[in-house]
Amino acid sequence: MRPKILVTRKISDDAEIILKKEFEVTLNLEDKPYTYDELIQLVNQYDGIISSSFDKLDKNFFDNLNGRLKVIGHVGVGYDNINIQSAKEKNIKVSNTPNVLNDAVAEITMLLILASSRRIGEAYNLVKTNTWKNRKPDITKLMVGNEVTGKTLGIIGMGRIGQIVADRAKAFKMKIIYHNRNKLPEALEKDATYFSDLKSMLPNCDYISLHTPATPDTINIINEETLKLFPKHSVFVNTSRGSTVDDDALIEVLQNKKIYGAGLDVFNNEPNLDKRYLELDNCFVLPHIGSATHETRLAMSMLAINNLRRFFSNKPLISEVV
Ligand code: DGY
Repeated sequence: MRPKILVTRKISDDAEIILKKEFEVTLNLEDKPYTYDELIQLVNQYDGIISSSFDKLDKNFFDNLNGRLKVIGHVGVGYDNINIQSAKEKNIKVSNTPNVLNDAVAEITMLLILASSRRIGEAYNLVKTNTWKNRKPDITKLMVGNEVTGKTLGIIGMGRIGQIVADRAKAFKMKIIYHNRNKLPEALEKDATYFSDLKSMLPNCDYISLHTPATPDTINIINEETLKLFPKHSVFVNTSRGSTVDDDALIEVLQNKKIYGAGLDVFNNEPNLDKRYLELDNCFVLPHIGSATHETRLAMSMLAINNLRRFFSNKPLISEVV
């Protein structure tokens, strides 16, 4: 009997075709999210699931399992929606999708840096709302922003994505400084300067880009205290997880122009982000699309499938979380 797999959301077409050939699979072709209760009911009929970050796989989810589910191939590098401790206790293997999304997320990071510095949100709205014609072509004011080239980028979390962002930023002649739990070996560090202490790094940054996973240590790492150390002209960008930011504190510094701007792809309580962000001209916002390219979403889907293939052939997973 072929293992029975539930795919909780729509994944790339080509990946679905492959999956159907090898497993007895239930796809979600309409991409209609299962409610929490529906998923708990359904999952007990499957040997494996391919999950997405919209699925809440918490302790209660694992406590309700009947012992059939053996493996979760999560489509995403971040797995803060999954209670890993519970999975471990129930002896359920979990894999994620690292590396394959590095370039896509680095692209969006650069886009956020550029968009927030060059006031792209405001400029785009001016044209789209057909109000450009009403504005004086003032050469020192009209959509004049900050130049990115040659500035200093502070990277918080110099892991796989952080290192690629550093490479991309160098094309803009940016100087790279970083804070990480550990200093990188020189070969990976390239010319970047390490700060063991985040608070010592922040005053030296023109741009601050966050690339840490969501863990108890990184919750609200951007808060009132750390934001006080951001230079007034600095820009903050976040493509990691919303939980790293204390929204009240960030919104306060943006409202009162204590920093130049922010570019955010991720939020607390997505998609119901704090509405105050939407009122800010100096905050460029995106709907969590860091990894959203055809190429990357296919690669993520395929990595999840390959992990399941390996699990059901009794081989070690490619990207095992637990
Ligand atoms: C990830 O892979 O964690 C991305 O943020 C998409 O959820």
